Amino acid sequence: MPVSHLLSTRTLTSNDVLDIIREAHGYLSSNGLKPQQHDVAFGRRVVLAFFEASTRTRLSFETAAHRLGADTVLFQPSGSSVEKGETLRETVLTIEAMGFDAIVLRHADNGTHETVASYTTMSVINAGEGSLAHPTQALLDASALMERCGTLEGMRICIVGDIRHSRVARSNIDVFTKLGADVAVCAPPALMGEDDDIRSLLRFESIPDALEWAQVINLLRIQRERMTDVIVPSFDDYRSRYALTLDRALAHPDTVVIHPGPVNVGVEADAAVLDLPQTLIHRQVSHGVAVRMAVLRRILTDRPTAT
Ligand code: CP
Repeated sequence: MPVSHLLSTRTLTSNDVLDIIREAHGYLSSNGLKPQQHDVAFGRRVVLAFFEASTRTRLSFETAAHRLGADTVLFQPSGSSVEKGETLRETVLTIEAMGFDAIVLRHADNGTHETVASYTTMSVINAGEGSLAHPTQALLDASALMERCGTLEGMRICIVGDIRHSRVARSNIDVFTKLGADVAVCAPPALMGEDDDIRSLLRFESIPDALEWAQVINLLRIQRERMTDVIVPSFDDYRSRYALTLDRALAHPDTVVIHPGPVNVGVEADAAVLDLPQTLIHRQVSHGVAVRMAVLRRILTDRPTAT
């Protein structure tokens, strides 16, 4: 039986996406998650291998696994034999030999997840891959938007910010488009990104222009840690053209605002914007747990038990 993975949203059909979202909605209450626990993944073992920092993705995968009855162990390179020069392949095969069913993997290098899936018998779940993919972020963003808006069919969604370095942008463009949304982008030229999937989209030169068109603004984090190769505008320039300031948000109270987090407060959005009723940032986090429950349930119950 082939091992199932979640490496990218590109292998998911629109029906797959909708099935995951429907299941996720069943785990949610109006202000968080339903209290009941499940045991469908009892006895399954999941390793959370995070080679980059994370709060939301790591904790929500851990919470999701526990809510399904699975066990989790955290692997972080700091303090591990990675510091003695152990390769990723040897690290993964060492973890696999301890009897894990799935590896939830975050790594800075594009292509890592597919390579790991080619040599491990564990299911590989992509928890963030360089600038390429963040599939469960896209699923949770779509889940939160569908809860608020009912459907994404025909919705006008503009992704604003550091698109060039953003795995969230690439996965979200794929999922939002699959669900029938019209997707546009808005970024300084140095942060736009020129892959074909981005080049083909409608572009806006500033966030005031984007706000006139969009029903949803998907803000992105300015990724200072990946800014080794581009000349970026000063943060004052960025703020004047691309930040969702409080006055801009209040002028468009029906525009829904999402952001994957963490937010650079005062750069891509004012602090007060995070608490507006039109902003879903904290609700997105609840959807993150629910969507990851749906993803883990499918993958863990679809594979033979690790020995
Ligand atoms: N959105 C997201 O991936 O956040 P973390 O880096 O905190 O996991």
